[in-house]
Amino acid sequence: MTATAVTPETELQRHFEDTIEHDRRIEPRDWMPEAYRKSLVRQIAQHAHSEIIGMQPEGKWLTRAPSLRRKAILLAKVQDEAGHGMYLYSAAETLGADRADLTQLLIDGKQKYSSIFNYPTLTFADVGVIGWLVDGAAIVNQVPLCRSSFGPYARAMVRICKEESFHQRQGYELLAHLMGGTPAQRAMVQDATNRWWWPSLMMFGPPDADSPNTQQSMAWRIKRHTNDELRQRFVDMSVPQAEALGVTLPDPALRWNSEREHHDFGEIDWMEFKRVVSGQGPCNAERIAHRKAAHDDGEWVREAAVAYAAKQAARGAAA
Ligand SMILES: [Fe+2]
Ligand SMILES: [Fe+2]
Repeated sequence: MTATAVTPETELQRHFEDTIEHDRRIEPRDWMPEAYRKSLVRQIAQHAHSEIIGMQPEGKWLTRAPSLRRKAILLAKVQDEAGHGMYLYSAAETLGADRADLTQLLIDGKQKYSSIFNYPTLTFADVGVIGWLVDGAAIVNQVPLCRSSFGPYARAMVRICKEESFHQRQGYELLAHLMGGTPAQRAMVQDATNRWWWPSLMMFGPPDADSPNTQQSMAWRIKRHTNDELRQRFVDMSVPQAEALGVTLPDPALRWNSEREHHDFGEIDWMEFKRVVSGQGPCNAERIAHRKAAHDDGEWVREAAVAYAAKQAARGAAA
């Protein structure tokens, strides 16, 4: 054997690996392995769907917000989530995916979204707890994605994270307000915390030993930390916040471990997680039915936009 032939393909592969190795960004114009592209489309689409479906649990409370101030805050927050979905579908489109196809995959149940949005919002305290815990968990998950190796995804995450931190604060502020109120208001906050705590921990995904995509995603620097690392970070962050609020996190096993310098916490019910992810959660059918109805109702808008674009093109050609 003499020198190995350097094909254009190996040259491109080397460039890709070099870019990742030096912590630079892969851009849509760059060559990338097909598996990298597919993995990103899957992750970004799942993320986009979560933002859009995530508008529903809180959107339900828009007409019943207890004051004009709370309504304005909630409206801004729910609109932000729609914007997050749009940035992310656009990021997926830079990889050659089509937003219409991704929407169809969601409606047909062929692509997932975050398990957390399949739980019901029973009281207005849920709005506060979602901001505090669910948006809080989203921040822990998403801040490292600002350094993701794929440029458009990383850049979308920078803006999204800024808005998520507003979401988290508005939730916390609402809870602090309720905790300073009547015993019934405090009980509402405790009840909402009891219901959302464990599902929030599940948001980080299955334990590392059971997470088939983590290793490859870390090697490609799409992900920067494992599910269990991020979950631990979230628990450590939430404990002092719960203390400051005066609510009890519903886990008798939760305690500081001075050896690990982290909090130990109880066993997560992974059977529940699997049930909810596979479509058997309390609100899965309702969420998809609502999304499908909104999509069907928007048909005329899409048709009008296409007709208008065709008219513009015809006018341009005539000129
Ligand atoms: Fe969001
Ligand atoms: Fe959010």
